Amino acid sequence: MQILKNDLLLRTLRGEPTSRVPVWMMRQAGRYLPDYRRLKEKYSFFERCQTPELAAEITIQPVEQVGVDAAIIFSDILVVPQAMGMEVQMIEGKGPLLPDPIKSARDLGRLIMPDPEEKLGYVFDALKLTKSRLDGRVPLIGFAGAPWTLLCYMVQGKGSKTFDEAKAFCYTQPAMAHRLLQMLTDTTIAYLKGQARAGADVLQIFDSWGGLLGPEDFEQFSLRYIRQIVAAIKEEALTIIFAKGAWHSLEGMAATGAHGLGIDWCIRPEMARQLAGPTVVLQGNFDPAKLLSPVEVIRREVDVMLDAFGGQHHIANLGHGILPEVPVDHARAFVEAVKNHVLREDHVL
Ligand code: CP3
Repeated sequence: MQILKNDLLLRTLRGEPTSRVPVWMMRQAGRYLPDYRRLKEKYSFFERCQTPELAAEITIQPVEQVGVDAAIIFSDILVVPQAMGMEVQMIEGKGPLLPDPIKSARDLGRLIMPDPEEKLGYVFDALKLTKSRLDGRVPLIGFAGAPWTLLCYMVQGKGSKTFDEAKAFCYTQPAMAHRLLQMLTDTTIAYLKGQARAGADVLQIFDSWGGLLGPEDFEQFSLRYIRQIVAAIKEEALTIIFAKGAWHSLEGMAATGAHGLGIDWCIRPEMARQLAGPTVVLQGNFDPAKLLSPVEVIRREVDVMLDAFGGQHHIANLGHGILPEVPVDHARAFVEAVKNHVLREDHVL
């Protein structure tokens, strides 16, 4: 086992005491960084993901330039549908496009159960290379999309505010939806285990569209599959579930045994704590758009956020991914404000 110079994130997730709250930002490797934009001019999105040298370089940029306490591997949740045989395009300014979405049993029959080493080995290579380049500076986070969020893109074929076609698929053809969700679950388990073997210290499950489902449907179409994934991987790595907007199910998510739960800015930290129970680590929950405020406002609001979480069992983060238009100075101000924060007297335990 390699000794990490900065293991704040790992200690926090294990429930151990730390000198301060760790901080990183969802989608920190990407478009708001000028060095990333330069690489983007030369290489396509999937070239960047599939070339370990490039993925490692992009992953380390925010560690060196913004000072975060963790690196998250540069990749995308949609590499899993791609490995299962679907065509995925990234359209500049628009987002993902899957030109042959899943609509019928025949479409489902076209999907394969991939051997992760064969189809996603480039992610494992990127993790290994990044791990060695980081040289123990900070922990490395791997990730995958939750089955529900992947189904959203695979059925809708593109981004959407409502994912109405994906929901209609689940409500009108539930048996087929569950078959797809189980295929995604099994693939994701094998994929995440491979990421842990390749050196990921923490594995985060992104359920970006969990909040589109009511509590019962979230249980049926999302949480029961996340539960299987967490059960299968939690001995191999520390785990975080981020189901945006699904605050109603924090109790159920905590019961999976995941080490951390991400929350967005629409729930008060105190309320999330009540719902999730006293020990699970909470991650979040700064409104990403607030990084567009003046730096003094960012500093002040970070203090408010950290006090609300109480300084324990907390990983400072945004409530969703960083926006591309955020000035790098503002991202840095966010990270520095967390590092400089002194807990108010009444919260010191
Ligand atoms: O956190 C990181 O910095 C690591 C890289 C990362 C990317 N995607 C790179 C990326 C991570 C963790 C993701 C996860 C992801 N991808 C999610 C879950 C998190 C979330 O934001 O909800 C989702 C839903 C996707 C699917 C996806 N990929 C969308 C909707 C888009 C287009 C819109 C957007 O946010 O950019 C992408 C493209 C994408 N993935 C980009 C990056 C840096 C931008 C395209 C580019 O730089 O060329």
